[in-house]
Amino acid sequence: MTQITLALTKGRILKETLPLLEAAGIVPAEDIFSSRKLVFDTNREGLRLLILRGSDVPTYVQFGAADIGVAGKDVLLEHQGDGYYEPLDLGIASCKLMTAVPVGAPTQTGRLRVATKYINVARQYYAEQGRQADLIKLYGAMELAPILDLAHEIVDIVDTGNTLKANGLVPRDEIADISSRLIVNKAAMKTKYADIQATVDALQAAVAKR
Ligand code: PRP
Repeated sequence: MTQITLALTKGRILKETLPLLEAAGIVPAEDIFSSRKLVFDTNREGLRLLILRGSDVPTYVQFGAADIGVAGKDVLLEHQGDGYYEPLDLGIASCKLMTAVPVGAPTQTGRLRVATKYINVARQYYAEQGRQADLIKLYGAMELAPILDLAHEIVDIVDTGNTLKANGLVPRDEIADISSRLIVNKAAMKTKYADIQATVDALQAAVAKR
């Protein structure tokens, strides 16, 4: 029997992924949220789930430790890996990747200091804009950086905009539309074609029905 490993992104994306999986006929064997386990069997024999940090999902799939993954497009843009296909937009966890600045901030004409966890995306974005930018890598709470003068602006995901607002920032330029995507290891797509394609098709039908 073919073993299929599906890597999921924990947090908000997981909450929106589980109903889609269920609509595709995939149900975890136990409640993921009341467990500290990282690997879960499902109702489908040979199909197991991994619960990972989003930024690790493309790494697991790229190297074939997982066959399929669910990851935010922001994470995939930043990861810049190959070794996987991206066959399906799941249409969940939609938001935008944006620049944001303090309310009333003057336009910076000189060199910009930008704080973000999306260093690769930001490097490419400011280069395309023809802006000189010094990038400062942060791992969270980006919104603090402009307030404490660590940076002039940030690059982060914006959903409701509440986090920016609560910290005296406003969104400025949109860099990309974000949602969660299904990714598939390229080698597994060949060696486990029937099982993987069936899973992709079932999820595609579940997405279409939403
Ligand atoms: C993201 C992002 C913002 C917030 C935006 O963080 O970094 O802080 O959501 O959402 P809003 O526009 O609805 O306020 P998340 O909660 O995903 O946690 P993270 O910082 O660990 O990625």
